[in-house]
Amino acid sequence: MHKKWWKESVVYQIYPRSFMDSNGDGIGDLQGIISKLDYLKNLGVDVIWLSPVYESPNDDNGYDISDYQAIMREFGTMGDWDELLKEIHRRDMKLIMDLVVNHSSDEHKWFVEAKKSKENPYRDYYIWRKGKDGKEPNNWYSNFGGSAWQYDEQTDEYYLHLFSKKQPDLNWENPTLRNEIYEMMQWWLDKGIDGFRMDVINFISKPEEMPDGEPKPWKKYASGSKYYRNGPRIHEYLQEMNKMVLSNYDVMTVGEMPGVTPELAEIYTQEEKKELNMVFQFEHMGLDNGPNGKWDLKPLDLLDLKKNLTKWQKALEDKGWNSLYFNNHDQPRIVSRFGNDGPLRVESAKMLATLLHMMKGTPYIYQGEEIGMTNVQFDSIEDYRDIEIHQFYQEQLEEGLSVGKIMESIYAKGRDNSRTPMQWDHTENAGFTTGTPWIKVNTNYKKVNVKGAIADPNSIYHYYRKLIELRKEHEVIVYGNYDLLLENHPEIFAYKRSLNGETLVVICNFSEKEIETNVLQEVTFDSCEMLISNYQDSDKEEEGEMILLPYEARVYLVK
Ligand code: NOJ
Repeated sequence: MHKKWWKESVVYQIYPRSFMDSNGDGIGDLQGIISKLDYLKNLGVDVIWLSPVYESPNDDNGYDISDYQAIMREFGTMGDWDELLKEIHRRDMKLIMDLVVNHSSDEHKWFVEAKKSKENPYRDYYIWRKGKDGKEPNNWYSNFGGSAWQYDEQTDEYYLHLFSKKQPDLNWENPTLRNEIYEMMQWWLDKGIDGFRMDVINFISKPEEMPDGEPKPWKKYASGSKYYRNGPRIHEYLQEMNKMVLSNYDVMTVGEMPGVTPELAEIYTQEEKKELNMVFQFEHMGLDNGPNGKWDLKPLDLLDLKKNLTKWQKALEDKGWNSLYFNNHDQPRIVSRFGNDGPLRVESAKMLATLLHMMKGTPYIYQGEEIGMTNVQFDSIEDYRDIEIHQFYQEQLEEGLSVGKIMESIYAKGRDNSRTPMQWDHTENAGFTTGTPWIKVNTNYKKVNVKGAIADPNSIYHYYRKLIELRKEHEVIVYGNYDLLLENHPEIFAYKRSLNGETLVVICNFSEKEIETNVLQEVTFDSCEMLISNYQDSDKEEEGEMILLPYEARVYLVK
């Protein structure tokens, strides 16, 4: 396995709208980010991934781009962006940008032109079809609800939008469109960025036919994901993009890929195929979904998580590379989801961090994760901002579900859980803004904030710093092979990592109880050192039979 800087890096994701507001308009901005770069440097991260900062009408908070080469006015100017990049590089960190090219905004000039007539040169940049029997061209639903097709009266055709109707899908079949995208990518790379996170990049190839999805009798629309995820020409497009653009730069790429399997990920990420460096898979984020998807709540079974993460660790062990994440701007906060955001918040947040950061792959930290930020529960739907939440709410109301039931799902899974403002200190609005924040601040900010976390040597923040430091000190954490221990234990997630005669043993208690175990008998124990643990009094004297405290995590280095 070849050594690469992006395999040895830790990435920090910034959701600019909620990170830091410098001008009091209640919306985070680029100058706000610049003012916090020392904070990120001190945390130890190597790479910053910036969620979209491009010009956008914000139907989906910047994931609907109307100009790929301009900065959203609310966030600042291109001059601010240039300064940001310079300041990031000056601190010896890197910057990767979000690339959203499965769709654009309907306010992008390409779409504005495309809509004008069937003969317009931009028409074919998007996916248009005739209706069938007075209805949509097929029965696919959009990922945000309703049909995936929007009727355009003027030209009597429908256009495809797998997300909101203000996010028309781009037609990758068209080589001119593909070239425009490659040129745009090159333009950013020439400005000096260090790579891309690619939004739903495995959706870009759709089959010409676009057959109906399998209908469920009680639903008006069906999923077409079987046809548009990992579609017929996906590898060809990624290889072309790599050849035309990426291969000319030393950059990192991570493709967001709902529905990707380990077998496919191996193709997407193995070096010889020349596609991407790594992908974001979603299987582990679906383990607490019921049969009807993400809003259908089901408790996590630890055995499922162990099985799943182990499958991914093993599948990409020799070929390809994993990305490691529990959080991002689309997921609820992990400490509320798989941990305990009440009395054991600190312990469980540290345990989850240990589990993830000691695995093989590139770890991603989402803003606020490093201080253990939690989910929110707003009383009124009016306080929510996310388009997905609102569409879900409306649809469920229409189907007759009670508000209480709907809110229960939103509290658990809504994307706004992770989009509340970053909690910097205990002053009003958590120090995020001097104005009125675009979305309410979590009420726990007086207790959970950066200032307090930095002052407390036992905080989650300092624990993350230590985890990142360890990754820099021990190659086994980056390159070691992975093996699961205690496969069938329902409450302990334990594994080892091995490289050149060195072994790392990672033990995580996923329960709120004390648990006795003999996990360490599974490895040879000549001499060992505890690298990190989330309780001050756990120590190696207890080797052999050990008692793990609630959510206890320990990492041993065995030489
Ligand atoms: C995935 C992004 O992470 C999400 O926030 C967005 O809504 C969709 N893709 C559509 O761009």
